[in-house]
Amino acid sequence: MTRIGPFEKRRKGYFVSTNTRLLDTNAIHALLRQSYWAKRRPLGVVRKSMRHSLCFGLYRSNSGGRSARRQVGLARVITDYATFAYLCDVFIEPTERGRGLGKWLMGCVMSHPELRRLRHFCLTTRDTHELYKQFGFAAISKPWKWMEIVRTPRQARRNNSGRLQKERTINTWLKHSRPRDRRLGSDSASSSRAAFPGLS
Ligand SMILES: CC(C)(COP(=O)(O)OP(=O)(O)OC[C@H]1O[C@@H](n2cnc3c(N)ncnc32)[C@H](O)[C@@H]1OP(=O)(O)O)[C@@H](O)C(=O)NCCC(=O)NCCS
Repeated sequence: MTRIGPFEKRRKGYFVSTNTRLLDTNAIHALLRQSYWAKRRPLGVVRKSMRHSLCFGLYRSNSGGRSARRQVGLARVITDYATFAYLCDVFIEPTERGRGLGKWLMGCVMSHPELRRLRHFCLTTRDTHELYKQFGFAAISKPWKWMEIVRTPRQARRNNSGRLQKERTINTWLKHSRPRDRRLGSDSASSSRAAFPGLS
């Protein structure tokens, strides 16, 4: 496993750090509950996700120094540090928004030495494209190459028992594929069904 030392950047009144020991899990859980994508993410899942990710905590540093810090933001990067990274859970506390902190946090993420050299960096967003565009992100150029599995919380829980559930994989692929690929894909769709009997 790659051991990466903590990365830190400062600006007046705030600092960003990847030191996992500084992360305030309860505060992050409370922040994410206000998001549109992780409203119902249980605390245990938040903890586990942070343990296995490169987390950029954003802190307001009060006059008492580091110990008096307050967690006011987060950006989480899921990565193998070699080939791929996925940016998610970008969040700034509502009272701290509109002061350039989101941009600064993104600048910190993009300047991390282990992420700068990766060839593939992805994210998904509902409405914050303008922020990410400023850091070089663009819409996926070949969406038909991408596939996904989306499970409801109930399906994910049931999958713990080892049973393969019906997935939206093929539907998602069909939705985004071009007519030509869709024709070619009729073969791959049926072979996927053969390989995954749970698919319909
Ligand atoms: C999006 C968010 C991280 C931006 O943080 P912030 O500190 O308020 O942003 P900044 O003051 O640094 O502004 C950065 C840029 O982001 C853009 N931006 C800010 N909020 C935005 C929003 N809600 N939607 C779209 N773009 C937004 C602005 O265009 C701004 O660029 P500009 O200065 O060139 O106009 C913050 O508003 C937030 O936490 N929102 C809720 C969670 C969220 O939507 N996260 C992103 C999920 S993909």
